Amino acid sequence: WMLFEDDIAAILELKREKNAVILAHNYQTPEIYHGVADIVGDSLALARKAVEVEADVIVLAGVHFMAETAKLLNPEKTVLIPDMDAGCSLADSITAADVALLREAHPGVPIITYVNTSAAVKAASDICCTSGNALEIVESLGVPKVLMIPDEYLAKNIARETKVEIIAWQGHCEVHELFTAEEVRGLREAWPGVTILAHPECPPEVVAEADFSGSTAVMSEFVGTKKPARVVLLTECSMSDNVALDHPDVEFVRPCNLCPHMKRISLRNIREALEQNRHEVTVDPAIADDARRAVERMLAI
Ligand code: 13P
Ligand code: SF4
Repeated sequence: WMLFEDDIAAILELKREKNAVILAHNYQTPEIYHGVADIVGDSLALARKAVEVEADVIVLAGVHFMAETAKLLNPEKTVLIPDMDAGCSLADSITAADVALLREAHPGVPIITYVNTSAAVKAASDICCTSGNALEIVESLGVPKVLMIPDEYLAKNIARETKVEIIAWQGHCEVHELFTAEEVRGLREAWPGVTILAHPECPPEVVAEADFSGSTAVMSEFVGTKKPARVVLLTECSMSDNVALDHPDVEFVRPCNLCPHMKRISLRNIREALEQNRHEVTVDPAIADDARRAVERMLAI
């Protein structure tokens, strides 16, 4: 922590000066998550909290689609992301033109779009979902068939929990697609009694081998309430680091995968973002209303 003291003190001061808040995703490193963030959580919590924020400036310590969602919900506030190149393989897997083709191919079938997408893709769809509410959103529509884009694995994992027919796209998270069922079986052998939690962006055969699956916030809550003696979180690496600091009595086994996009954010570039008012995230006014409608429809459920 001594290494970080100077940046943390500067960031806390800059937040006061600029009336800024820092929203950090659960995959941010502990010095960000525990050191400077005002609000932490999964994508759903960050979207919900973004609406309640009473600051002039929001710094989104996370990836671009999260900052864009915060901007959609706070058009009058300045939303900054410390590195514009913090993207997401899921967001990159589909365009608004692809969504238009899907609509043509499946007339009348509602399009549910994972929040890990660009505002343009959200605008072309009917409603958003996150990993924390996907099942609820699918079932809320009261229809026999839906399209769920772009994460093929999330769609297939949710399909196992509902009677609603789900048509998927072929996008994958480059972090979660790396976990294998064989790896999970190996973990059980190597670590007797281990409780295995998997993010629903993992392949279905991985989720099938796990004890429980849920969004990052749901995994964190599981650890806090069930207090497993030994646990593994099949997700991005910083997640275990952050949850472990809150639960020193739980043993964390750590095969994990790093998200190169999330790791673009550092204390140093958060400090620079506040000092230099950069990089401002904006949304094309031609699509902003439609994209906001898809997000707000989700938040209303
Ligand atoms: P959640 O935090 O919503 O579970 O999402 C995980 C993720 O990969 C976000 O990039
Ligand atoms: Fe995207 Fe996966 Fe990184 Fe999340 S962990 S930002 S879904 S690439």
